[in-house]
Amino acid sequence: MKILVTGGAGFIGSHLVPLLRDHGHEVRILDTLSPQIHGEVPQGLDWMARTGAEFLRGSVTSAADIEKALDGMEAVVHLASETGTGQSMYEIARYTDANVQGTALLMDRLAAGGHGVTRVLLASSRSVYGEGAYIRRDTTDGPDGPRITPPARSAEALRARQWDPVCPETGAPLTAVPTREDDRTAPSSIYAATKLMQEDLVRISCDTLGIGYAILRLQNVYGEGQSLNNPYTGILSIFSTRIRRGLQLPIFEDGAESRDFVHVSDVAAAFAAAAERADPANAVINVGSGRATSVREVAESLSRAFGAEPDLTVTGQYRLGDIRHNMADVSRLKEILGLTPAVSLDEGLGRFAGWVGTQPLPEDQLEKANAELAKRKMMG
Ligand SMILES: NC(=O)c1ccc[n+]([C@@H]2O[C@H](COP(=O)([O-])OP(=O)(O)OC[C@H]3O[C@@H](n4cnc5c(N)ncnc54)[C@H](O)[C@@H]3O)[C@@H](O)[C@H]2O)c1
Repeated sequence: MKILVTGGAGFIGSHLVPLLRDHGHEVRILDTLSPQIHGEVPQGLDWMARTGAEFLRGSVTSAADIEKALDGMEAVVHLASETGTGQSMYEIARYTDANVQGTALLMDRLAAGGHGVTRVLLASSRSVYGEGAYIRRDTTDGPDGPRITPPARSAEALRARQWDPVCPETGAPLTAVPTREDDRTAPSSIYAATKLMQEDLVRISCDTLGIGYAILRLQNVYGEGQSLNNPYTGILSIFSTRIRRGLQLPIFEDGAESRDFVHVSDVAAAFAAAAERADPANAVINVGSGRATSVREVAESLSRAFGAEPDLTVTGQYRLGDIRHNMADVSRLKEILGLTPAVSLDEGLGRFAGWVGTQPLPEDQLEKANAELAKRKMMG
């Protein structure tokens, strides 16, 4: 198959493109090489030439670049995106332009016809769920009780150090459960809102045009090749730099907040499976490990993966727009794509730490990113 991968020079692309090439596909990458990700002088991109993938430097915000990129293609994996959740809250037009307008231009070109594209795969994000799914703790209903999707935690609640969302109707305490694809979506950041808009654009256009699609809602993706220099994304990158510099790891809230960490090779496998299925899934599919890991636990495990004694401090700080817990229900991943995540967190952190050790030691940029958020009163 001839597959266009937008944003294919990035982290996920650097695992997906070689995998697609190994599976015998022809691959073309369309990527701007955004300086925030790749540096002012892009580096570390030798892998692209090694795979034999074709590279077009260009933007999904340019109709002419999309036109060129789609020529002769049969499938599109749409990864190109601005990805910093915190940054999206004050660079709103930039995020909307790249993520929403970029997807709109892609779908416009597909709607115009005269192309051979039969499938579009979108990299969406778990952020579209907002806080995700919970059940009430004060009933005997158990996991089959009514599902509650609480609104984003208010600034007032966070100031009062009330970390856990509560039932919006009764104020009852809640327990997080694995979020399913048909749970309510409730974006709480501009980034999340643009990802949900991307989903709607792809689903509605593809349904109308008779093009197959799959929307993969990725959880917290980590692994070798993730940007160590971008201060706006990737808790594991930020922590790894601090561990290497012998600095303490500041843990927000009370450290019990959790994330579903999925290794990038499992994510690449999911895109390849979605591209190669005989029938398009025409569905939204969570891609995660299905397991919640607290931020404290991941900070400790990562420190050990670097052979360092964990040195953590729970600061009680918080960021507006952050969610409390995240864990995906991954039944559809298995049912539709036939996949069970293969890389455990310990194995994945070991691989990540091994790779980080081969990379130049970046400046610690955590203070800078936090100062930007504090200046905008988005952190407490
Ligand atoms: N990494 C994660 O944890 C995660 C989680 C959920 C969803 N996602 C989604 O997966 C996709 C890929 O993420 P990633 O982690 O590889 O990010 P990344 O930042 O490493 O890669 C994104 C790539 O897109 C390129 N890009 C940015 N704007 C572009 C434009 N206008 N035109 C063309 N290329 C452009 C960048 O240069 C970069 O190479 C994104 O859509 C992201 O929203 C990632």
